[in-house]
Formats: sequence, structure tokens, C-alpha cells
Amino acid sequence: MSCTLGKLPLAESRRSCYSGISPAWGFFTETSPAPPPRGVPSAACQMWILGISAYYHDSAACLVRDGEIVAAAQEERFSRKKHDHRFPSHAVQSCLRHAGIGPRDLDLVVFYDKPLQKFERLLETYIDYAPAGFRSYLQAMPLWLREKLWMREHIAEQCGFQGKVLFTEHHESHAASAFFPSPFDSAAVLTIDGVGEWATSSYGWGRGNQIHLLAEMRFPHSLGLLYSAFTYYTGFKVNSGEYKVMGLAPYGQPRYTGKILDELVEVREDGSLRLNMRYFRYCQGLTMTNRAFDRLFEGPPRKPESPLTQREMDLARSVQDVTEMVMMRMARHVHQLTGEANLCLAGGVALNCVGNGRILREGPFERVWIQPAAGDAGGALGAALSVWYQYLGNERSAARVSGIHSDGMRGSFLGPEYSNQEIGEFLETTGARYQLADHRSLPDRVAALLAQEKVVGWFQGRMEFGPRALGGRSILGDARSVRMQSVMNLKIKFRESFRPFAPSVMRERVADYFEMDCDSPYMLLVAPVRQGLRLTMTAQQQELFGIDRLNVPRSVVPAITHVDYSARVQTVRREENPLYYDLLRAFERLTGCPVLVNTSFNVRGEPIVCTPENAYLCFMRTEMDYLVLGDYLLDKREQGEFVDSKAWQEEFQLD
Ligand SMILES: [Fe+2]
Repeated sequence: MSCTLGKLPLAESRRSCYSGISPAWGFFTETSPAPPPRGVPSAACQMWILGISAYYHDSAACLVRDGEIVAAAQEERFSRKKHDHRFPSHAVQSCLRHAGIGPRDLDLVVFYDKPLQKFERLLETYIDYAPAGFRSYLQAMPLWLREKLWMREHIAEQCGFQGKVLFTEHHESHAASAFFPSPFDSAAVLTIDGVGEWATSSYGWGRGNQIHLLAEMRFPHSLGLLYSAFTYYTGFKVNSGEYKVMGLAPYGQPRYTGKILDELVEVREDGSLRLNMRYFRYCQGLTMTNRAFDRLFEGPPRKPESPLTQREMDLARSVQDVTEMVMMRMARHVHQLTGEANLCLAGGVALNCVGNGRILREGPFERVWIQPAAGDAGGALGAALSVWYQYLGNERSAARVSGIHSDGMRGSFLGPEYSNQEIGEFLETTGARYQLADHRSLPDRVAALLAQEKVVGWFQGRMEFGPRALGGRSILGDARSVRMQSVMNLKIKFRESFRPFAPSVMRERVADYFEMDCDSPYMLLVAPVRQGLRLTMTAQQQELFGIDRLNVPRSVVPAITHVDYSARVQTVRREENPLYYDLLRAFERLTGCPVLVNTSFNVRGEPIVCTPENAYLCFMRTEMDYLVLGDYLLDKREQGEFVDSKAWQEEFQLD
């Protein structure tokens, strides 16, 4: 295999870069030669399936009972190591604990990709580029030889599970996470990612309990890796800083779009693409781009943490434009091919909510559903559902999947929860001063604090699964406040961000504030703030650069309005999160505004809080004004002196 591809002749360039997938699919690799009988298990017995994703980034576990998602969590929340890629032992334990079962009760465990195929890809790539990739080869091998190639044994050892272990392909897991929990009986399915085994993107359809993938794009040609290359080049961390590139794009001009399309990537009408590997180093090195890339964009990569310039903003805007163009073409192609009215999306690129918003607004699909844990964490969930529906052949109907919710994700509140009693016991041990609020009056009390521009840590119910805080582990503020953005950034999150915060809004009021009128429960759609609510900037203000521009109020809800008047919207329905909805409602009654700032409950560099202890420590370490832990209300002014551990200060506060 050769990864080095330049420009193709014209006739060739009209051809698609997708490869067909054999109808036989080869969906699962079994570790036991005897396949289990297909069909529904007897109604009397419950079947527990544990899905696991690990060893790339965002390791996670998901527990499914008879096709219903019971629990799911990411390892980082327990280990407190952001994007933790290690085996998700804590997450597995948490899922089992929530269900009240042990490893012996599990019927099947499924891993979200096929390590042997991935290993084959690594070896072929190393051989192709030898000796150039020797250093990265040496660095990768120990983990492969020690753990990744012995997955079945490793799972048995880590989980105490002795039964059958199955493996799905990476993109089959993403596709399953997109379709099976969706509210659709029938839909087109599109996955867009960095890379799995070989596939980097795939599409097909889902109907009932079946997903059929029709074609895939293969490594090294990848929209996700192209975006990550620019993430690296603009000085952010690959696999976590992609959000920052998206947030930076509105400050820039698409100055490099032509160069990207002329030199770096060839995009076909169907959205498939080929990268010119002369400019990339991820096949053989420890970095994403090389010197030829530097020459093309006239300079070396930005050093992490160094000041951002107009150049990075223009690069971000350019790669974002190309990404949206590819996403739109892919969506149109998949629509044309499947004729479906609905689209399901997953894979890391499906977290690009600006691109998602365009697909929704510009069509061609009537409805779009995106897996909230669209990255690799969601692979654990997809793998488990794949086994239940595709492998075991159990029936599926969208009405049954959705139940009282709008889909099968339970609002993505799938992590651990803590009772008032547990919270109370914890607070007693810390010596914290608190008031125990009446549950019914809690929304009114907290709304009054928010209306006084207080910043409130909000810890309620089960923890969210996926990268966004949705009202379970959130920090909240008044979206109307002109000072809220800088207060939350500097005093709470310890950062000076060029990104605005995201809004939560009552579902029935979303169209009053934003140019959209549909559900966006997982904060995965970006929409413009309504024209009539925008504030015009003076000529002088328009000259401002970077964060100074963001700090100019741009609408009646300035804390959540980006420089291009966009916002990353979360809609909230009462049936999905009653307490959080009641808080929005109480705030609206008090102020007339149904919008709150909702940012994740963590400081810079730290995973979102999981336990009451994590939340309390974050509250004490920052200048947050109030903390609500279940029914307990803590006022910062009433707390005693707090002496933090030196290790934490060194790791986070001084970052
Ligand atoms: Fe992935």
C-alpha cells in the first residue's frame, strides 16, 4: 500500500474514493468457534451486554439490558485524567454498580474495534514508510504487545469476566451508536471520523434492527485527520483541541481555502476525499504535519499557549469551510443514494456542531439525529447495541427505543448519581457549611441567585455521557450579563477563551432566541441568534481583535453569542430533565429570559466533575459563588478557609 498520493488525472478524479463493503460484512470476530443461536432470548431471562472502548482516547464502558441502555460512562471522569485512553476499569465498575450486578451476571462483553485489523494497518503503514516511522513504531509497540493484542485475556483480567468476548469494527460501532438509539425506524447513517481499523468514514442505512453499510473511505484519507492536522498546526492538542479550532474559525477569513483544496485535499462530488500525503506526517511520525506543510502555509506550527494571531484564525476558518463543504457533500450523496428522510450521524467529526447545523438547515434531510457521545466513547455504546440487535437479531422499533424520551439515550444522563443522603454524609466529613433546601423551592431560589449575576455550580442526578455538560454537572450563569463571559472564564475556568459559552434554553422558547425550531438536547447544533436580538457594532468596535471583539456585547444574551452571532444551543424539555427545566422556567418567570449560560463543571485541563467531592473541590478552588449539590445549597462566603493540595495547584491552577 502506498500512502503517497498526489493529484489524480481528471478522469480518475471523477471517481469516488469510497470503497464498497461486501454485503457479507464480516461484522463480528468471535473468540469462540461456536456462534450463539440467533433470535430473541426467552422473555424470562434478562440479557446483560457490556460494551467497552479503550486504547485510543476517551475510553468508556456501556451496559445494555435487553437492548435498553442502562448505564454508560467515560473513564476520565473517575481517573481524573482528561481523555484517559486506558482500560476503563472504573467506568465498568460504575456501570455494574448502577445496575446492581457483578461481572458474573454479564452475558457478553463486546469491544468497539478489532485490534488485530488495527495492528495490521499499523504494520503495513510502518513497512510502507520504513525507516521513517521507526521512532513512532518503537513507541507504540510495548502497549500493543502488552495489552492491545490480548484483549480477551485483558478483559477477563480487568473485569473478572470469563465468558464470550466479541469485537465489532470501529465504524460499525459508530454507526450503531448513531442509529439504534435514534428516534427513527429507518434512516441514512453516516460516520465521519479520524480512523478506526482502516475506515475513516462510512455510510449506509439503518432499518429496524439492521444497519447495512454500503461503502467506506479508508486510511490515510480522512476528514477527521485533516482537521486534526490543522488542530496540531494551530497549536492545539490533537483529539481534544478540535473544538477550539471550530471556535476560532469565526474570527478568520477563508484565506487558505483555495490552497487547501488545490494542494492538500481533493474532494469529490460525493464527499469522498484524497489527501496529498506529501504534506502530512501522521503515517510515519509523532506529529501530524511536516516541513512541506510548513512551507505551504509559510511558517512553523504555532507553539502551544503562545499568542493567537490572525494567521491561526484564517487557517481555522479555511479548514472549517472545507470541512463543512465535505460534510454537506457527504450528506447529499448519502441522501441521494438511500432516499431516506432521516439522517443519523456519529464519529468524531459529528461533534463539529457548526457543520451539523448546516446539514440541518440546508438539507437535504428532514430530520437529523446525532449521537451525543459521537467520539470513541460512544463506540462502547454502539458495540453493545450492535450485539443486541444485529448479532442476536432482536426486534427494534423507534417507539420502544424512545419510550417517554425523544430517543433511547435518556437525555444522555447515563453516569453515576448520588443520593441526598450520600451528599449530606460527604458534606459532614468536610466540615462544609450548607443549607438543606426544599426540593420544590430549589429552582426559584437558584434562579434568584442567577438573576443577581451569581455563578452557580449545579450538580444533580446522573452524570452525562459524552463531552458536553447538559444540566447534570454544569456551571450556570445569567446569559444576559455583559460581564458573565469574562467572570466565568477568568475566575472559574482559569482561562481566557476566545469561545463564548453555550446556552440552555426551554425547548418551546428556542425559536424566540435562535434561528432554529427543533430539538437540540445534546448541544450539538449551532444556530444564529435571531436577527432582532442582535446589537450592531460600531465601526470602532469592528476594528477590535480576538477576545476584545468577543467582549463587545453582540446581542441581548451576550454571554452566549459568538462574534459571528452564532450559538451552540441546548434545548431542554421538562420530560427529559424536570429539575433543570424548572430552573429555566423559574429564571424566565423572574427575568423574562428563558436562556442560561451552561458550561461544563470543571476547570481548564480537568475532566468534568463526577462525584460530590470533585464538585466541592472545584467550587472551593474557584470563585464560584454558590454550589448546589442535590438539595444542598452552599454559599462560598460561609465556607471556612480552604487549603488546596500543592499537586493540584501545580497541575491545573498554574497551567
Ligand atoms: Fe472513532
